[in-house]
Parts: sequence; C-alpha cells; structure tokens
Amino acid sequence: MDAGKTLEGVGKVGFVGAGNMAQAIGGALLRTGLLKASNIYVSSPSNTNKGPWIHFGTHTTTENGCVVENSDVIFLAMKPIYLDAALVDIKNTLKQPVSNKLFVSLLAGVPLKVLEEKIHRIVPDARVIRVMPNTPVLVGAGCSVFSCGTTATKKDAEVVKMMLSTGGICQEISESLIDAAGGLSGCGPAYVYLIIEALSDGAVKMGVPRAMATQFASQTVLGAAKMVLETGKHPGQLKDEVCSPGGTTICGIHALEKGGVRSTLMEAVEAATKRAAELGKNK
Ligand SMILES: NC(=O)c1ccc[n+]([C@@H]2O[C@H](COP(=O)([O-])OP(=O)(O)OC[C@H]3O[C@@H](n4cnc5c(N)ncnc54)[C@H](OP(=O)(O)O)[C@@H]3O)[C@@H](O)[C@H]2O)c1
Repeated sequence: MDAGKTLEGVGKVGFVGAGNMAQAIGGALLRTGLLKASNIYVSSPSNTNKGPWIHFGTHTTTENGCVVENSDVIFLAMKPIYLDAALVDIKNTLKQPVSNKLFVSLLAGVPLKVLEEKIHRIVPDARVIRVMPNTPVLVGAGCSVFSCGTTATKKDAEVVKMMLSTGGICQEISESLIDAAGGLSGCGPAYVYLIIEALSDGAVKMGVPRAMATQFASQTVLGAAKMVLETGKHPGQLKDEVCSPGGTTICGIHALEKGGVRSTLMEAVEAATKRAAELGKNK
C-alpha cells in the first residue's frame, strides 16, 4: 500500500462470490488493517465458502443485491460462467435502485466491454475495473494487474491499486495484455506448485524425507525469485553464475533442457491465455 494512503472516502467493500480469490483479497485487506470486517459485505449462494468470512466477522448473505446496496466498491468474484446468474440475482434482490458504485471484476477472460454492457443494465452509472489477481495476495506476495473501463476515474484506479497492493504488487496495464498477464501470474502459482512438488519428488527419490524435501524445494523457489527481483540481474546471468564448469548444476540444467522445460512453460502460458480469451468469447 502507498505510504500514508487509507481507504478514506471509499467506505464499504463487497464481494459477490466468497471463494478462494475473494478470501485472498478480503484477507489481505483485513490483515493489513486497510478495512474493518464490519465494512465488508459478502454474498454467495451456499454456505460452502462462508466459514472464513464468518470467522473474520464480515457481513454475509445469500443475496447479491444486499452486497451491492451496502458497498461502494463491489468485487465480482464468481467463476465467469456464473456472471449472468450473479447479475440476475443482483437485479432480483436489490431493494431499491443504486448508483455511484465501482464494480471490480476478477473474472478471467471477460472483457471490459462485456462487463460494462451487462452491469449497466442493472446499475446504469456503474464504473468498472477489470483485475487479474493471484492467490498469493493472501500472503502478501501477490501479483495483480488491472485495466480501467470507460468511465472509471483516476481515483477508482488509485483505490483498486491501493487495495490490491495490500497483498503484493499491483500494476495498471492495457486490457490487450490482461489475458496474457493472467496466463502467467493468475495461473502461475499452480505451475510453480507443480514444479515445487516435482522438485520435492526428485529429492524424495534420492532419499530425502518428504517434509524436508518440500520445505527445501519451496525455499529454493522463493530464494531464486527474490534473487531475480532484488539483484535486478537477468535470470540467465544468475543461472550462469551458479553453473560451474563440469559441475553438478550444469548436469541438472542439461536434464531440464532435455525435458523441454522452457518450451513446456511457454506453452502453459500460451494455453492459459488462449483459454481466457475463449471464456471471454462465451460471455
Ligand atoms: N483462483 C485463482 O487463482 C484466480 C486467479 C485470478 C482470477 N481468478 C478469478 O476469480 C474468480 C473466482 O475464482 P475462485 O477461484 O475464487 O472461485 P471459487 O473458489 O470457486 O469461488 C467462486 C465463488 O462464487 C460463488 N458463486 C457462484 N455462483 C454465484 C452467484 N450466482 N452469485 C454469487 N456468487 C456465486 C461461489 O459460491 P459458493 O461458495 O456457494 O459455491 C463461490 O463462493 C474467477 O472468475 C476466476 O477467473 C481466480
């Protein structure tokens, strides 16, 4: 969060959808003290994901309209296929017309144009921002990007950036890049979990106990990421620096190259980016 900034003037924040991503962002807002639980409203059709919210002390409901009525900033945090159902529920459960609301969509692939058109049918003057966050927001190490809709203001962008920055880095980007950024950072934690698991498997195969192997694999990934971020060196240079001639690391690198790890990771980002565009087209 930018030093000295608070959510003054923003008031209350709502989440339509109570699952993983909403909990990660809500958890970061609460952990850093940017918002009090009494200023958060959350809705979802079932109680499946309500436990943590009840534990936090936020308001919970099954009526999406109640969240919209009571909040100034509303995160849309359901899967893209449930967008229409969620909006219908907002419409059916609003007790009175509302105005002056900022909607923040977390939905992978759904373009601002589509979001604005659908949201404006219910809240004609709504401002809309599209965010692509990731779940490490929960532990303060998230990577979020966002793009502003046609009527979103500079202050709206600042508010969203401030909120998402409680959970890591957050940057405004062109909407044309958001699916690709999501294919990397939105989906990336899952790719890295798989890599950590595989590194741990390798060590277990070579006789290291599982818990120790997973801890060492995780710390190694964290350490390597910090080296890239904090030294500012190109990852290729850092790799070269730890490959002694005829040493152990270059043998490991050769095995990775034989397995096509670079091409596979590039294909993962490409596949996820294309899937996001498909999800958006279906809306
Ligand atoms: N997870 C990630 O890493 C990640 C990263 C970037 C972006 N996103 C985006 O974030 C969004 C949420 O993902 P998630 O992983 O948090 O999903 P999730 O854990 O499955 O949570 C989805 C939530 O939406 C609720 N929901 C379903 N239909 C609804 C409706 N009609 N009205 C209101 N709420 C409804 C669900 O209710 P119940 O609790 O009753 O089932 C659940 O609480 C997705 O659009 C995804 O693209 C996720």
